Amino acid sequence: MGITKAEFVISNTDVKKCPDGNFPEYAFIGRSNVGKSSLINMLTGRKQLAKTSQKPGKTQLINHFIINDEWYLVDLPGYGYAQKGKEGRENIRRIIEDYILERQELTNLFVLIDSRHEPQKIDLEFMEWLGENSIPFAIIFTKTDKISKGRLQENIQFYAEKMLEGWEELPPVFTSSSEKKEGGDEILRYIEDVNISLKTKD
Ligand code: GTP
Ligand code: MG
Repeated sequence: MGITKAEFVISNTDVKKCPDGNFPEYAFIGRSNVGKSSLINMLTGRKQLAKTSQKPGKTQLINHFIINDEWYLVDLPGYGYAQKGKEGRENIRRIIEDYILERQELTNLFVLIDSRHEPQKIDLEFMEWLGENSIPFAIIFTKTDKISKGRLQENIQFYAEKMLEGWEELPPVFTSSSEKKEGGDEILRYIEDVNISLKTKD
């Protein structure tokens, strides 16, 4: 599936103010700085559609981008970033949680994980929370240009083993490098398949 059109629609902190229209929505979540906004730019082929930064905590709002006039990519703030103080952190947590729990259009959440690190408690607990709330999600291991292919496979394998301690089966798993523009086709194909299955359900 090619993305022929990608446009910013609206930013906000209130799930009730997200756009109407009932289009399927694919949102990106994960720790601050993991590469959510960069991945949206890579998938759409627009360098600065979503704002990125070397410093964590760049995205503070729910950002909707309409794709091909028929579905949304949604950039969310990251979790786990401490600098804004307790109140700021609490605020971001509320924005993320309200969006995930209340947004009916949310079709799939992509949980981004830095492929260089071993499984982190904060990510494992977040995915556990998604499971408890029956939120469909897939994992994307990011920044694969920063490690060797062998190391990447080892890390993914280790992650799978860790998750299978608590989960009966694994969610879909993808890898990406926004730097090298790798992994986008598989993610877009997955989105396309889900979009098609939604249409045939109607
Ligand atoms: P917040 O909005 O703060 O939660 O961060 P984010 O997850 O949106 O991360 P963002 O896309 O802003 O990227 C953070 C930093 O990582 C930037 O300096 C990016 O250039 C860099 N980065 C993102 N993806 C990749 C990647 O695939 N490879 C490499 N090498 N760097 C990346
Ligand atoms: Mg961001």
